[in-house]
Amino acid sequence: MLVFYNGKILDLESVAISPFDRAFQFGDGVYEVIRYYPSEFFKSELHINRLKNSLKEVGIPYNNCDSIESNLNELIKLNNLTDEVSIGYIQISRGYHIPRRHYFDDGMEPTVFMYVEKYPARLEEMTNGVKIGLEEDIRWLRCNIKATSLLANILTRNKAVRKELSEIVWHRNGIITEGTQTNIFFVKNGELFTPLLSNFILPGVTRRVVLDLCGKNGIPFTERNITIDELTKSDEIFLTSTTAEVTPVIEIEGTNVKDLKPGPISRILQKEYSKLY
Ligand code: PDD
Repeated sequence: MLVFYNGKILDLESVAISPFDRAFQFGDGVYEVIRYYPSEFFKSELHINRLKNSLKEVGIPYNNCDSIESNLNELIKLNNLTDEVSIGYIQISRGYHIPRRHYFDDGMEPTVFMYVEKYPARLEEMTNGVKIGLEEDIRWLRCNIKATSLLANILTRNKAVRKELSEIVWHRNGIITEGTQTNIFFVKNGELFTPLLSNFILPGVTRRVVLDLCGKNGIPFTERNITIDELTKSDEIFLTSTTAEVTPVIEIEGTNVKDLKPGPISRILQKEYSKLY
């Protein structure tokens, strides 16, 4: 596998990252995941803008974001993925410092790593819908930053997999936030609802695209706080992300949401979304 590491394209085997890199020691870094649908990266501008914002929020001085897309395209070509639905991963850490210490200097050299891999659409889940769980959100209060420190996400996601759930969606004191890797929407009486942007959720690129599609297709939508009670009384529920696209939810563990079907609005949005790539 050929990857991008600090300005160079290298064999994965020849990449050597210091164990004193702050991403390794503290999860001190930010990242992005961008879908590649032959033959371009999907909504790359929105992803790069979010990356720039994450970098700004945590104070990592990386000024080369505008060359990321061409680096990713180069990796797609070199790894023979030109005709494959794939993903590009970009991670920028604050860099390394010896000895280990929590605080950092402003002038550190960031560590930049990118790779691409084949990642086909999850058709079965998108067609038939998925089962999810609900849990209290155990994350910090700056979830709008796409940070590599994902301990809460991976512990919760791992629990979901063990329980054969596709995702666990979090709430804070009964107000729905988002899934470990997805944003959430629900439909009631023909209107779409999703939690409003705040420090409690990631501003999902797919979320943005879906809301734009609603605007274009005359589907009314509202961004506001959503309670567990409302979610469990909805007509349709779906999750969105770069890799899940629009994935209907048919069951929520421990609630009366048991035989929900992927509904008409989910289907329209899936279809309109797939027309974009
Ligand atoms: N996850 N919320 C969280 C916590 C996420 O990690 C993600 C994406 C989303 C959806 O964002 P977007 O639509 O921009 O992909 C929402 C990526 C795919 C990941 O961590 O692999």
